[in-house]
Amino acid sequence: MARAAQHGGNVLEIAERHGLDASEIIDFSANINPLGMPDSLRQAIVDNLALAERYPDIEYRHLHRAIARHTQTPVEWCMAGNGATELIFSLVAKLAPRRAVLPVPGFAEYRRALERIGCDIIDVQLNEADDFQPTDALLSVLDEQIDCLFLCTPNNPTGQQPDAALLGRIVQHCHERGIALIVDESFIDFIAGATGLVAMLADHPRLYLLRSLTKFYAIPGLRLGYLLSADIATLDAMRCDREPWTINAFAALAGEVVMADDPYRVATYQWLAREQAYLFDALSRLPGIKVWQPAANYLFLRSCSAALELQQALLCHNVLIRHCANYPGLDQHYYRVAIRSHEENRTLVAAMTAVLETAALWEPRHG
Ligand SMILES: Cc1ncc(COP(=O)(O)O)c(C=O)c1O
Repeated sequence: MARAAQHGGNVLEIAERHGLDASEIIDFSANINPLGMPDSLRQAIVDNLALAERYPDIEYRHLHRAIARHTQTPVEWCMAGNGATELIFSLVAKLAPRRAVLPVPGFAEYRRALERIGCDIIDVQLNEADDFQPTDALLSVLDEQIDCLFLCTPNNPTGQQPDAALLGRIVQHCHERGIALIVDESFIDFIAGATGLVAMLADHPRLYLLRSLTKFYAIPGLRLGYLLSADIATLDAMRCDREPWTINAFAALAGEVVMADDPYRVATYQWLAREQAYLFDALSRLPGIKVWQPAANYLFLRSCSAALELQQALLCHNVLIRHCANYPGLDQHYYRVAIRSHEENRTLVAAMTAVLETAALWEPRHG
């Protein structure tokens, strides 16, 4: 499959393929905070352009201290990366699991990282009947043959946050069997007040938390993420193995600046509380689609019509959403939509209304 087709945010490719002007397309396919990068960061970059003329600190001391402060963890438990993506690959390469469990649907790069090292992958289907949430059935798959489990909380693309008690049981179950549990919390910052599984790190050294700063702080082009774990030996080994300077100086600076920007976080929570409710409500009212209540900054939906190509139809309204047909465990009925500014969300609702009305006119009538 083409690289770009596995992710949202491919505005240029889609525009070229459909003969559209990329600058006119509203991109609901990538889940990026529409407030844009914090002003504090914009200013810091302008004030520090000379950083481009020096190598970054090879240990990223200031950045790691900022992560430790922000997450209230010891600095030895923190490892920054060029986006969470770099850390998915380097952690998997270092842990070298032989048999891993992947709940599906899930983020594509876990599978790529595991396949790269020849790991056997056991897919566990998340079912629509359970609102695509993991259940205790997952525990029965996690036996002594398994040495790694990926979880994504909240999950991408479904936007569902697993039940906290179940998460606790999974952590304990993996701990008792020595299973490396990699929990991707790249979207957890969008849940106001959530601290994820940080408090469990100290007692569960085979627990690894991945965080991304690219979505919440709107810096996917800068690239920054981090890994937290009390497994200091593995983190040290990763530090020894990694290529030098994978995080550029502006991304390292970004980490220090944005994690200290409380007003930006507050503004994001205010925007999201309003727009999450508005978009969920407005889309839920439309006939012909089912929408799942989102935990984060994107919504997951199913079109009831097999004939309707929703992504294609919305492009005629200069609106790009993410189709989910290429996720293992889903098909062409499923889509993911980012929550954006109120005006953009209204545009999406209007476009969706028009598309679904037209589709209804063409649906064969029964009875
Ligand atoms: C669940 C999940 N984890 C990790 C990533 C990668 O994030 P980053 O931009 O920090 O590499 C993404 C990107 O879309 C994602 O959806």
